Amino acid sequence: MEEENIHFEAGASFYNPHMRLCRSISSLAVGAIENEIEVCDGFSSTGIRGIRYAKENPNVSRTAFVEFDESAAELCRKNIESNSVPGELFGEEFNHHMMDRSYNLVELDPFGSPVPHSYFAMRSFRRMKEGYISATATDTAVLCGAHYAACQKYYHSRPLHNELCHEAGARILLKHFANLASEFDFGIVPLFTLSHRHFFKVFIRLEKGADKAAQNEKETGFINFCGKCGWREGSQMPKEKCPKCKSEIEYGGPLWLGKLHSKEHIRRMKKLNEKRDYADKAEIGKLLSLMEREDDFPPYFFDVHRSCKRFGLHNPKPIEEIIAALKKKKYSAARTHFSPTGIKTNAPASALKRLIASK
Ligand SMILES: C[S@@+](CC[C@H](N)C(=O)[O-])C[C@H]1O[C@@H](n2cnc3c(N)ncnc32)[C@H](O)[C@@H]1O
Ligand SMILES: [Zn+2]
Repeated sequence: MEEENIHFEAGASFYNPHMRLCRSISSLAVGAIENEIEVCDGFSSTGIRGIRYAKENPNVSRTAFVEFDESAAELCRKNIESNSVPGELFGEEFNHHMMDRSYNLVELDPFGSPVPHSYFAMRSFRRMKEGYISATATDTAVLCGAHYAACQKYYHSRPLHNELCHEAGARILLKHFANLASEFDFGIVPLFTLSHRHFFKVFIRLEKGADKAAQNEKETGFINFCGKCGWREGSQMPKEKCPKCKSEIEYGGPLWLGKLHSKEHIRRMKKLNEKRDYADKAEIGKLLSLMEREDDFPPYFFDVHRSCKRFGLHNPKPIEEIIAALKKKKYSAARTHFSPTGIKTNAPASALKRLIASK
């Protein structure tokens, strides 16, 4: 098998080719870190993720691969050797492994939610001043509100099950890491946050300091959403009634209201992407450009089709025309990576209503 010029043995069911983009964009984020780092590829399977991080990025000095399934571990061992990656394989349970180890970057890529392992990942940084956590969550249905009770149980947050569900889901995942980070006196700086197909990816820098940890709490709150008139707002406390039409509010949270990306890091990732020949290069370039811009706005967006339906309007204008019309009215507006039909803007729903549809 081959992925981005890496030859490896994939076995019968240990390799998911649909996660190639996730591995590639994460590898860019690893390469954009300016220090030399030791990496723990926590849920290695074939090892393709850790092997790619190591081979594509000169700043990765050593990699530990952790995999508890015997046959996957065997494949991983062969792949580490055949690719001459400096590091070793630990055929053991991740949480157990992390009890007395530390790395600069910990990769969490289990099946489903990273929650059962995030505490041990975070704890492993306790004696360090900074570190990085890269986590994938494939429990999108939970974070997007299709399984409301599961989200409460795992993430202690109310999900939003509407047009904002992907952004809210990513922000709930970040809030989870922010809470854990605070317990160990770290502030979090999300370097990039991605919602793509069936997964969420968060890539976070941890920075030690009581003040930074306290800041996590200040960046946490709720997204309030009125399904009737389209009003929405981020706030520290949830609201009950829509201030515009007095309908009942659907709110999601607690969730992360702060920045989703570091512009500086995204720019470095873009430069690296330009130099690399990834199969998903064009798609990644587009995603990174959307991310660079979308963070200048409030923590929500407007979906053009849902908004039109809500306003009782037909024939929405093309999205670029709506953005241009908003700008003409002196609002800022941009597309978002969270939805191909989404617009990030500082304009209120009422302003959007006036210019969203063709006459
Ligand atoms: C989603 S796959 C990892 C995919 C891999 N990172 C990649 O990019 O191809 C999850 C892997 O983690 C392993 N795993 C699950 N729970 C684990 C645990 N608690 N400790 C160690 N390995 C675990 C599974 O056996 C499986 O191979
Ligand atoms: Zn309302």
